[in-house]
Amino acid sequence: MSTLTQPPVSDLLSRLFAEAEASQSAYRAQMAAKYTPEERKARMASAIGYREFYAAAKDAYLAVSRETATLLYMLARSSRARTIVEFGTSFGLSTVHLAAALKDNGGGRLIGTEFEPSKVARAREHLTAAGLSDLVEIREGDALQTLSRDLPAAIDLVLMDGAKALYAPVLTLLAPAFHSGTLLVADNADSVPEYLAKVRAPDSGYVSVPLADDVELSMKV
Ligand SMILES: C[S@@+](CC[C@H](N)C(=O)[O-])C[C@H]1O[C@@H](n2cnc3c(N)ncnc32)[C@H](O)[C@@H]1O
Repeated sequence: MSTLTQPPVSDLLSRLFAEAEASQSAYRAQMAAKYTPEERKARMASAIGYREFYAAAKDAYLAVSRETATLLYMLARSSRARTIVEFGTSFGLSTVHLAAALKDNGGGRLIGTEFEPSKVARAREHLTAAGLSDLVEIREGDALQTLSRDLPAAIDLVLMDGAKALYAPVLTLLAPAFHSGTLLVADNADSVPEYLAKVRAPDSGYVSVPLADDVELSMKV
């Protein structure tokens, strides 16, 4: 049986996905009142204003889709991942999926990072409600600092889902701990051309494919 489909995790996820959808509608309306879709995309990808951009989204889940969340669980299970790093935790919806996979793999460690303190608190509450908090360390602060120290010697799986302009620098921070077979899942891949250029280059040391729902799946060769 999968932790994902059993209470308390299954009940919690039903509630969190419903909240995520509601928060997304409210956030879309808030953004539409302020910016054109092009302006919003440019701000999301900006290396300068990302802190301000995400501060305005502190009440929004901005979560991966249900399909991507399930894919994360499947990839973590099938690769028998024991060490996972998540850039961009928000309210912890993706984190619950990844931590459930660690539990079903027999244990492990997930390091997440999030700079909005209220989101860190909510993500921790959700992980406690899921009975998964012993597997997860959420580092509060900017990933450029929090992921520059105390990483596991080997990282089995990475979720890239924070500020888009930082996917490439975060890749550089984490790469020394990758091994042959390390999986990278990048959400909102269409917004990260620099990152895509790195993982798709023929001599990059990765094989990489775009998947439905704006995701790039890469593997260290
Ligand atoms: C798209 S959401 C993450 C959603 C989450 N992975 C999920 O599926 O539930 C991105 C989150 O990353 C956080 N974030 C963005 N840039 C960050 C950075 N440089 N360091 C830490 N957190 C960051 C934002 O505050 C936001 O909550």
